[in-house]
Amino acid sequence: MQVTRSEIRAHKRKIYISVLRFLLIIRKIHRYSKKGRSEKVRKLAEKNVEIFYRLGPTFIKFGQALSSRGDMFPQEYIDKMSELQDIVPPAPFEEIRKEIEEEYGRPLESVFEEFESEPIFSASLGQVHLAKLNGRRIVVKVLRPGIRRRVELDLGAIKSMKFLFKVLMGDEFYFMAQRMISTFERSIYDEMDYRKEARNLLEISGNLYSREKDLRIPGIYLDLVREKVLPMEYIPGIKITDVEKLKEKGFDLKSLASRVVEVFTTMVIKDNVFHADPHPGNIYVDEDGSLILYDFGMVGRLDKKTRRNLFLLYNALISKDPDMIIDAMIRLDALDPYADRYVIKKGIALALRSLEGQQVSEYEVRELVNFANRIFYEFPFRLPDNLALFIRMYVLMEGVALTLDPEFNMLATVGRILDSPGMRRELITSTLSSEFESIVSNYRAIMRIIPKLDDYLDMQSNYKREDKKIYDYMIPGSILVGSSILALSYPLISAVGFTLSALLFIYFYFK
Ligand SMILES: Nc1ncnc2c1ncn2[C@@H]1O[C@H](COP(=O)(O)OP(=O)(O)O)[C@@H](O)[C@H]1O
Ligand SMILES: [Mg+2]
Repeated sequence: MQVTRSEIRAHKRKIYISVLRFLLIIRKIHRYSKKGRSEKVRKLAEKNVEIFYRLGPTFIKFGQALSSRGDMFPQEYIDKMSELQDIVPPAPFEEIRKEIEEEYGRPLESVFEEFESEPIFSASLGQVHLAKLNGRRIVVKVLRPGIRRRVELDLGAIKSMKFLFKVLMGDEFYFMAQRMISTFERSIYDEMDYRKEARNLLEISGNLYSREKDLRIPGIYLDLVREKVLPMEYIPGIKITDVEKLKEKGFDLKSLASRVVEVFTTMVIKDNVFHADPHPGNIYVDEDGSLILYDFGMVGRLDKKTRRNLFLLYNALISKDPDMIIDAMIRLDALDPYADRYVIKKGIALALRSLEGQQVSEYEVRELVNFANRIFYEFPFRLPDNLALFIRMYVLMEGVALTLDPEFNMLATVGRILDSPGMRRELITSTLSSEFESIVSNYRAIMRIIPKLDDYLDMQSNYKREDKKIYDYMIPGSILVGSSILALSYPLISAVGFTLSALLFIYFYFK
């Protein structure tokens, strides 16, 4: 699409104004959320959603990315952002044709026997067309014409306004936003290269086909894969959240829900790469009840050590053992090893109780908050980069599972999955192979987690002298305990995501 200079300037102006409005909205949202005024937060979040829709593809994607940042925004905001639908009107067919012909260097008709001009799906980054190749029905994913330039322009405009993030939101939000934006940038560029998607798909289907039955992943026509065009086997199905149709076919919705969680959890624990985008549009169900997975644009990679530690965290959560949870979180780098173990343990125990739907008295919470306030100088929970995608995955999956089965319980389901012989074997092998390393790191962990109040006091006074700025953000430790309250109001947040992200969120809530 040809765009004139003045159109670009006008578009940039629109972005500048909108990003400013976005920041002002976020400021208000944080204020209202601190006062517990959920209704106001929801209204503002709605306004924000409208702004993003008006700004188009990059911002729709951006809003969806924000929806996984429970550590930056309150839950009401997150909920509204995850409602952002990635539906954008299709590009004119002539532009699509041009794009395809440029990629292959020959007329569309000489590549495909048939090509339907109306897409069956169109979203921010691409659209999907039915076509025919060697007498077979296929689908062709085509990148939206001009989208790369558009994303460049939009991201450039956002980045040029970074200073405003700092001025309006303060250093801490600014640093988080900076990281969030660069992660977003990386992932959106990955998604705009279908050669990468094809590689991910092949890698994941290789892993899954070696062990899963009842699962389908479209084959791809490798010779015809280009940066902007991805021809694939056509596998129609019923959308995983189309409860009516699934019921009509007589499928057992409860077992579909746990099957989804099983496939994705196994991927995280056993493989070095996982499909990180289990939203309803990417999971379908075949005639015979098999799951179909589409869309390998967003994947996550965890190393062996992290995977083993995640396994330990799952197990700890399932056995509801605060000590094990703390150890696993320290190993995952999600918890400061110097943090006072006693207080964290109490907080986690409270959180676990409320997760299970038990009553937690206000008195207990207040007592712990007071205590924590005296102990913690800094918020002890963190969200390491490699875990952010993983949490997002569980939040998405929980949404899907609850649509299928309103009584779905993530912890119990993951518990059943881990209890299978295959999974136990996996843990034993991975533990044995790294036994030595594990002994060493255990030893270190034990040495580190002994609460060192003296060190702390020293550290605090030193930092105060040297760099006051960092410690402007020293926090009441109350946060930790607050997570139990959070669990009361938002029991749907997935269990693992809960421990990591809800704790972070509550920090902002109280701050
Ligand atoms: N191989 C396929 N067979 C049948 N339908 C498909 C296939 N691939 C994608 N689709 C349809 O197109 C939609 C979008 O595809 P997807 O790969 O998720 O694109 P995007 O990356 O834009 O989200 C899917 O939700 C599904 O309905
Ligand atoms: Mg998709």
